[in-house]
Amino acid sequence: MVEETFVMIKPDGVKRRLIGEVIKRFEQKLMEIVDIKMKLLSREEAEKLYAMHRGKSFFEHLINYTTSGPVVLIKIRGEEAVMNCRIVVGETYPEKRKAGSIRGDFSPFLTENVVHASSSKEDAKRELSIFF
Ligand SMILES: Nc1ncnc2c1ncn2[C@@H]1O[C@H](COP(=O)(O)OP(=O)(O)O)[C@@H](O)[C@H]1O
Ligand SMILES: [Mg+2]
Repeated sequence: MVEETFVMIKPDGVKRRLIGEVIKRFEQKLMEIVDIKMKLLSREEAEKLYAMHRGKSFFEHLINYTTSGPVVLIKIRGEEAVMNCRIVVGETYPEKRKAGSIRGDFSPFLTENVVHASSSKEDAKRELSIFF
């Protein structure tokens, strides 16, 4: 089923000039960019995006990182887009990442991992509503 989800190129991805590389990988999986914008997120926006992680040990670090430079906010559409964009992104934990995924190919770090994609249909709806 065709659906929409939310993808974000994080500050390290933008700083490393990976915008084109990242978008290419979603497009080659037949995902369609529906809307896109670049923005330096406020603390409030970052905390809203990562609300489910509030209270965890890494929350402050995550918010500081997410607001450390501009990000690219993307509304994307495609077949089972939530699942397929997660596959393109790769795993959360470095030891589980496969080569061929964005994180597997570009990040050895847990926090600085180039790209975000919503992890469920509910999250996709909520996260898209914050930025679009
Ligand atoms: N244990 C951790 N220590 C530091 N940063 C973390 C940790 N877990 C997750 N993060 C950071 O927080 C983001 C959100 O975490 P999570 O939703 O669990 O992962 P994902 O981005 O794969 O959905 C991760 O992409 C990563 O940047
Ligand atoms: Mg997540």
